[in-house]
Amino acid sequence: MDLKEKIYQLKKLHNAVILAHNYQRGEVQDIADYVGDSLGLSGKASELDCKVIVFCGVKFMAETAKILSPKKTVLIPRMGATCPMADMISVEQLEKLKSEHPDAVVVSYVNTNADVKAITDVCCTSANAVKVVQNIKAKEIIFVPDKNLANYVRKFTDKKIISCMGHCYVHSKMTAEDVKSARESHKNAPIIVHPECENEVVELADEVLSTDGMLKFAKASTAKEIIIGTEEGIIHRLKKENLGKEFYTLGPARMCKNMKLTKLEDIYLALLAESDSSEKKSQYRLELSEDIIRKASLSLTRMFEYV
Ligand code: 13P
Ligand code: SF4
Repeated sequence: MDLKEKIYQLKKLHNAVILAHNYQRGEVQDIADYVGDSLGLSGKASELDCKVIVFCGVKFMAETAKILSPKKTVLIPRMGATCPMADMISVEQLEKLKSEHPDAVVVSYVNTNADVKAITDVCCTSANAVKVVQNIKAKEIIFVPDKNLANYVRKFTDKKIISCMGHCYVHSKMTAEDVKSARESHKNAPIIVHPECENEVVELADEVLSTDGMLKFAKASTAKEIIIGTEEGIIHRLKKENLGKEFYTLGPARMCKNMKLTKLEDIYLALLAESDSSEKKSQYRLELSEDIIRKASLSLTRMFEYV
């Protein structure tokens, strides 16, 4: 029996669903039940009727699934798959910002750890950050941890946005030079970029979109060639869903090594451990305290109310 077949059997046995982010390896996306952006996957996690969720992405995404579906078992096939940007804001740093700006509402990007979400007023994703901030009544917003997403949001509001210096090491590598040379080599191709890119890139792009936003744009566009300014894993799905169109990365293909940690073998081992001893199971099970779940779920559910 090949690995995929074994995964299908274990999935059935444990009533499991596999969720994968758009940056995952192609073979992981292909075996998943749902592939999506942070917003789409968090929505799925709360509405699924299953016992086990296998989350193929990074840890904050699996945590979000657990917060929204605390009764389900959430497995993360590689515990080491964390998001370096999420680690750029700690509880202590956010508490300090809160004490310096007592009237500000705290909006945290979903790319944060669960303990930070627990002291956040409202979460947002790249797909809804602008709307969330616009719909909050307060005049001052603490927006963490991504300085680039904060800069992007600033363009659509006159509220005071207090940010910190977090950034994504993958998107930060893309430059204005990459945009200029893509324009020269693919004259008719729209250039679409993620809001985690630096301001110089965002300013020169045609569209600024979340990963699912990019997929929707590609489907609706009549362009035959599109330049993609985000992690290269999304190209797999873009090609699969848009036969006859060509997709090029903005500059060299930029890879998030954390997103690429999860392999089919890891998914298999995580599901296999569910039939094993509790010690084996705990290697893959994402656990959070009841207190963190209760507090963090407020900031996540508020996100759905603000859009
Ligand atoms: P979205 O898929 O929500 O656009 O997020 C991008 C990202 O960097 C996730 O880590
Ligand atoms: Fe974090 Fe950037 Fe990797 Fe997304 S692409 S998981 S933001 S480091």
